[in-house]
Amino acid sequence: MAQSLRAAITGTGAAVPGKIMTNADFEKILDTSDEWITQRTGIKERRVVTEGQTTATLGTEAARRALADAGIEASDIDLILCATVTPEMLLPATACFIQEALGAKDVAAMDVGAACSGFIYALAVGSKFIETGTYRRVLVIATDTLSKFADYTDRGSCVLFGDGAGAVVLEPSTKPDTGLLYNVLHADGSGWDYIHVPAGGSRQPSTHETVSGREHYVKMRGRDVYKFAVEKMQWLLGDCMSHCNLAPEQVDLVVPHQVNIRIIKSAAEKYNFPMDKVYVNIDRYGNTSAASIPLAMEEAMRNGRIGPGSTLILVAFGAGLTWAGSVVRL
Ligand code: ACO
Repeated sequence: MAQSLRAAITGTGAAVPGKIMTNADFEKILDTSDEWITQRTGIKERRVVTEGQTTATLGTEAARRALADAGIEASDIDLILCATVTPEMLLPATACFIQEALGAKDVAAMDVGAACSGFIYALAVGSKFIETGTYRRVLVIATDTLSKFADYTDRGSCVLFGDGAGAVVLEPSTKPDTGLLYNVLHADGSGWDYIHVPAGGSRQPSTHETVSGREHYVKMRGRDVYKFAVEKMQWLLGDCMSHCNLAPEQVDLVVPHQVNIRIIKSAAEKYNFPMDKVYVNIDRYGNTSAASIPLAMEEAMRNGRIGPGSTLILVAFGAGLTWAGSVVRL
């Protein structure tokens, strides 16, 4: 009997803007302090885009690196998926801007909108095209520029966000038990108002009033999101381990959505994961939404924390509400 196809990650890439915004920079514009932000979130600094940098330019940079890492050309790609909630424009899809910039002419391209869970959602979608034999090479990009949608007068949310992009190439796995071993996706739309941008869509189109009322920026119920996040991060980690029969010692690295060090620690503590098995770079990048997991994964690969054969658990939650997890063997 033919063995079923499985999608493997064969290339990774990431990109962040050069401009750094520190907690001290926020002290100059808001009633906040480095001490408060560090203690409550674990964030020390984040990257923010400057003139000429956008969601698509960051995504394109990460995609080029992932293609080079996989040793393939843009013309070899069959499908481009872009996870983002900070699109280049409301339409067309950001994936189309990236497709054009890569020169991947005529290649199918679409966006996946699942906020901070977007990378795992897109990974699941892309892997299905490979598992069914429909496509052989899928480029999954996660890119967000939340600094463009953060309300810099709202200290309860803006200090969390940073900009960045990550990308992976998916191809059929050539080794047994390697690739995307498990994906779990969930959503609860009744929590749409936990994190949302009220205006600019069909429910509340843009007007002078929506602009002056700051309705085009992210609104967040921080405390409620926190409680939801702790519950779901813990659940996801447990679900990924039990579904794949993994004990903590069989997991090389947990790569969580970089959202808040306290939320990440609560999930690790529940399953006695030592923190040195949990990747954290939130101190340097903040919450980069969909980009945060591939950005962290690429960094872990580059600094030798993981490599071929490593078993990873990826866990994320975000606006929607959405939550998602993956087990990956590199
Ligand atoms: N600096 C100083 N004080 C602040 C700041 C700040 N930046 N932000 C809030 N405070 C104050 C509040 O006003 C409040 O003051 P009060 O007691 O006088 O009213 C106090 O700090 C406590 O506020 P809380 O909101 O209860 O603080 P908390 O410990 O919950 O931390 C935080 C807030 C960091 C936002 C936390 O709730 C959190 O991380 N929530 C999760 C957010 C999240 O995960 N978002 C991701 C979604 S993004 C996406 O999907 C695109």
